[in-house]
Amino acid sequence: MPKLIAANWKENPRTEAQAAKLYRATVAAARKIKGETVICPPFIFLEKIAALHRRSKNRRVVIGAQDVFWKERGPFTSEVGPRMLKRLGVKYAIIGHSERRKWLHETDAMINKKVKLALADGLRVILCVGEPLAIRKKGINAAKKFVEGQLKKDLAGVTLTGAKKKNLIVAYEPIWAIGTGRNDTPDDALHMARVIRRRTHTRVLYGGSVNGKNIGDYVQYKEIDGALVGGASTKPNEFKKILWKAQI
Ligand code: PGA
Repeated sequence: MPKLIAANWKENPRTEAQAAKLYRATVAAARKIKGETVICPPFIFLEKIAALHRRSKNRRVVIGAQDVFWKERGPFTSEVGPRMLKRLGVKYAIIGHSERRKWLHETDAMINKKVKLALADGLRVILCVGEPLAIRKKGINAAKKFVEGQLKKDLAGVTLTGAKKKNLIVAYEPIWAIGTGRNDTPDDALHMARVIRRRTHTRVLYGGSVNGKNIGDYVQYKEIDGALVGGASTKPNEFKKILWKAQI
């Protein structure tokens, strides 16, 4: 199976012109890449990037949002629903990123509602799970229990059968590894990917300080279907290395 690499630009770059440039550089880097590349810009640039994307011929590059709301429309200030995203041509939504859990106090119950509506509307979901450092310090079994708890709550009432299974992807992102340069050991990431797959029967990505040097350590395993990349996804040369090395 070709690997999936998702670029989470987070709150970057600064201007629309820079976002367009980064989009073009990413598409150029993804040329001839067999797996899917998902580009997730900030909401404010989504319309521009989606418009550029409609002219692109590379169908293996697709656009994702960094979040989505659990209601289609109505009195929900600043929120954006799945159908609004779909109308732009957005294919994926990241849901439950640890930065949103931390800074916006998103709960598993909120994440569960988002996952359900996004899937019902035909968006593909990249659900992020992962344990904080205090838990990992207790050992990999504590991490396993923590993540299983998240999955149970985030995916309560979600049943996917047949072809729809591919619409849900779980990203294992240990919180202490995100943006820290302290990536998880490939062995532990593999262990957690197996734990997640056993429970969800979905594809699993690894995320947390992925770069051009370490990507191969993760995607060498068939149980790790790709990566969710933050910092390195805004550096086209580094991202290109990731895309190429993920081609195994
Ligand atoms: P990072 O972020 O690659 O900068 O560690 C990953 C993520 O938050 O998805």
